[in-house]
Amino acid sequence: MPKVQQTKGTQPAIAPIVKWAGGKRQLLPALQSLLPQGWQASTYCEPFLGGGALLWALQPKQAVVGDLNAELMNMYHVVRDTPHELVEHLAQHHNTSEYFYQLRMQDREPEFASRTPLERASRFIYLNKTCYNGLFRVNNAGEFNSPYGRYKHPNIVNRENILAVSEYLNQAKVMLVHEDYQTVLEHLPDTAFVYLDPPYHPISDTSSFTGYVQGGWKAGDQERLRDACRDLNRRGVRFMQSNSDTPLIRELYAEFELTTVQAVRAVNSKGSGRGAVSELIIRNYVEC
Ligand SMILES: C[S@@+](CC[C@H](N)C(=O)[O-])C[C@H]1O[C@@H](n2cnc3c(N)ncnc32)[C@H](O)[C@@H]1O
Repeated sequence: MPKVQQTKGTQPAIAPIVKWAGGKRQLLPALQSLLPQGWQASTYCEPFLGGGALLWALQPKQAVVGDLNAELMNMYHVVRDTPHELVEHLAQHHNTSEYFYQLRMQDREPEFASRTPLERASRFIYLNKTCYNGLFRVNNAGEFNSPYGRYKHPNIVNRENILAVSEYLNQAKVMLVHEDYQTVLEHLPDTAFVYLDPPYHPISDTSSFTGYVQGGWKAGDQERLRDACRDLNRRGVRFMQSNSDTPLIRELYAEFELTTVQAVRAVNSKGSGRGAVSELIIRNYVEC
């Protein structure tokens, strides 16, 4: 097993535990270069956490992070509280199609709600590592519905990384919340810095992926988010948001600072959205 790399400081390097649609690993250099001055002095907030690429890269000492996906947030709680038990549990899974579909169907059974947080977290990581394209996707009933991926050697038990994430979550003051982003933002101190990475506005009719949570992300949600950003701005809270580079997003955020970056789409439900695409970074500050 490879050792966890040390970053320049004393923090161990951490990678996202799960592969996530819209994950920001490849945009990290651009995002880091656009952070506001002195962001470390207050609370860091990431209310659309997903795989958490920027959180793990920055490892802030004080943070409030959340996501509306209940299974995802349950997994982070288990990683924080019982990482060794989780690693042991993960080691018991099998990489076969039959076993995959057996685990996948658990959320269609009435007993699913009474399964332990550890069982649910282990199932969640297993399905993420072995499903097609690592795409966590739910149907309208909120049931996981990605197919089996047929990978020969999926990295189901990444012990070093799970332990490193757990250590960070225990050492820093990180609040993990399972809430809609608006509730999270309303309770923040005005000195906080917020990074928003919502489900993107689709660049075409077939390119959207919004199946992170039951109910998805609909047209009016972009307006609601823009209003929440205006509210942050009124309060003096600095924010940075990633979104797709589309006429609607440019129009909604015309009053803010817009920066274009190039990204390669790695996960797409139809496999058709790959290649370099232009994305927007929206900020209500200019000094970096
Ligand atoms: C683009 S992904 C975030 C990716 C993340 N930055 C990463 O590096 O992996 C968007 C996330 O928003 C979450 N989400 C969707 N609607 C939400 C809502 N109303 N409030 C909070 N989170 C929500 C989804 O579950 C998903 O994890």
